[in-house]
Amino acid sequence: MHQQLLDLIDKAQIDIAQCSSPNDILNAKALYLGKKSYLNTLFSQLRELSAEERPAFGQKINDARTKIEELLNFKEKALKTQNWDKQNAGVKTDFSMPGIMPERGGLHPLTIIMHEIEDTFLSMGFEIAEGFDIEDEFHNFDALNTPKDHPSRNLADTFYLDNGKLLRTQTSPVQIRVMENFKPPIRIISPGRCYRNDKPDPSHSPVFSQVEALVVDKGVSLADLRDTLQNFAILMFGPNVKSRIRPHFFPFTEPSAEIDISCVNCGGTGCRVCKNSGWLEMGGAGMVDPNVFNIVGIDPEIYSGFAFGLGIERITMLKYNIPDMRILFENDLRMLRQFR
Ligand code: DAH
Repeated sequence: MHQQLLDLIDKAQIDIAQCSSPNDILNAKALYLGKKSYLNTLFSQLRELSAEERPAFGQKINDARTKIEELLNFKEKALKTQNWDKQNAGVKTDFSMPGIMPERGGLHPLTIIMHEIEDTFLSMGFEIAEGFDIEDEFHNFDALNTPKDHPSRNLADTFYLDNGKLLRTQTSPVQIRVMENFKPPIRIISPGRCYRNDKPDPSHSPVFSQVEALVVDKGVSLADLRDTLQNFAILMFGPNVKSRIRPHFFPFTEPSAEIDISCVNCGGTGCRVCKNSGWLEMGGAGMVDPNVFNIVGIDPEIYSGFAFGLGIERITMLKYNIPDMRILFENDLRMLRQFR
């Protein structure tokens, strides 16, 4: 049978070499590999061999099949090339024609702004800390002094995983992780993704990004927070921008505030972007609550600190005049190409 296989391959080689059209190839395929081909009948004869002989012979049939397939593929390609040569006979290549530029990639606008924010804070003496997108309830809520019945813990607001962990709803848990691991003085920012069970609309997305800031040292005051925010606003948006804080509530800061900057579109006189208020809300801030210090083992009698969290989508939309947050997540090439 071994000799028969060798003969078969020889015969196939000659036949395939003589093929001169796609139809010839199809016929040769049917003849040598099809249902009624000699190879296929050999396969059915395998049963008649002893169990010891079977694997080696099965392997030989397979090898022959592979060899014939290769011959067919090679000839098929060769025919296509011949055809191309025939159709293009006499056509001269113009080597002075401009080539086709390969597509160039670029950074996503959110990444560009994230880098700009990082550079700005680095220039102000901050370091960058990294947190985890998958957090536990302790770091995302408990250690941040968030009551057990706080609405943000709700399934309707927070994505919980089967293993009891959750997708962090804010970058604030990085504050806890940093204070657990480092002693003051602390001066960090931490940019990253956050997740909330929100329906996408012009100003919401279930995935969004924040940058967290935390400063802890002896004698840190609200004035330091104001100063840092004002400096950041000027470095990001230019010398004319103003910032202000408004009283608010967050469980992990006392006192707490919301951060506004003067509208970068109208300069504060009132327009569509700032809904005629002259101000744009950028995030939350406050002085670290003594309860939080106690949880991470920092003595609130000795140290004080401020923290804030800013929305990176908001900053990106203002910088690039993007009217709808969803545009940042649709990956429409017409938008992305403008950032190459
Ligand atoms: N984590 C808050 C949020 O997502 C924002 C925030 C408020 C961050 C006050 C802070 C802070 O660091 O001090 O709404």
